[in-house]
Amino acid sequence: MKTAYEILKQVNDFLDNLAYDRKPESLYDPIRYVLSMGGKRIRPVLMLLGYNMFKDNPESILMPACALETYHNYTLLHDDLMDNASIRRGHQTVHCKWDANTAILSGDSMLVLAYQRMAQCDKAYLAQVLDIFTETALQIGEGQQYDMDFEHRNDVAEDEYIEMIRLKTSVLLACALKIGAVLAGASDEDAENLYKFGERIGLAFQLQDDYLDVYGDPKVFGKAIGGDITSNKKTYMLINAFNRANAEQRAELERWVNAETFDREEKIAAVTRLYNEIGIDRLAQDKIAQYFDESRKYLEAVSVLDGRKVELAAYAQRMMKRKY
Ligand code: IPE
Ligand code: IPE
Ligand code: MG
Ligand code: MG
Ligand code: MG
Repeated sequence: MKTAYEILKQVNDFLDNLAYDRKPESLYDPIRYVLSMGGKRIRPVLMLLGYNMFKDNPESILMPACALETYHNYTLLHDDLMDNASIRRGHQTVHCKWDANTAILSGDSMLVLAYQRMAQCDKAYLAQVLDIFTETALQIGEGQQYDMDFEHRNDVAEDEYIEMIRLKTSVLLACALKIGAVLAGASDEDAENLYKFGERIGLAFQLQDDYLDVYGDPKVFGKAIGGDITSNKKTYMLINAFNRANAEQRAELERWVNAETFDREEKIAAVTRLYNEIGIDRLAQDKIAQYFDESRKYLEAVSVLDGRKVELAAYAQRMMKRKY
């Protein structure tokens, strides 16, 4: 079996060698730019790790794995435009370096490239793979729309938030593992257990993303700290801060959330201080640990020898410790 490190290297080499020889460069340069800025490559690595639990030649699915990374990067181009984010992976976002129209059109082309690359998977599984991918892509759009709708609502419940992040983030990690299993000829039951495993890991992963958006180290996070606070994202942290605040704290939170004009740094500092007072830091960490713990039983249920699960289990554990 391959180590996750070896798999990551294969993914990066493969992505680096994909040719973009079409024109105009103004359309393809931003695509090359975003795909060459690094990124953890979690989705393709998960796909190969999932496959490798059942079969020994994970390099044979690099094309569909990189299809998923292409798709993920497309969502980032549009997400940064929607979230008004200027930094990603420590570099300027596409809509800031170029403009909004470029982010839209280069993003659209990345979505098409993602399908083109996915369609190069083993023909025996093509219909099944495209079904999983298409359903996932639709769900992500739905999750992203809820995420934006929630910015304008102040009554978002915790379970609505969890369903929103399941849609916008979890299903892609789950889909990566499931497609890996399907391409390896795994049973439906094993593929489904890996999907569920990815879904739980994905919930923990997005909760952690929201946590790092407040508590991350700006030097390593690669994105601007506090973006979720300034755009009133209804994160687990904000929802629970409201639920647990005393009358005075709630009034202050409401003031910041309803403020039409504010100093960015001042709002971030004030809301973060309220989170600290209310104990949101600990609460978020506990919730992340809860979803991670829940994930284990699904991996345990997969019908391969324990030795074949070690690499994926260790990789998921490392994902939970990420700082960026
Ligand atoms: C960012 O995903 C978007 C989320 C779903 C939180 P990653 O944290 O995997 O971003 P990269 O690809 O490593 O930059
Ligand atoms: C992103 O959620 C989910 C998708 C890109 C589909 P975020 O908006 O929290 O991701 P970041 O923080 O910008 O990476
Ligand atoms: Mg977003
Ligand atoms: Mg964003
Ligand atoms: Mg985020």
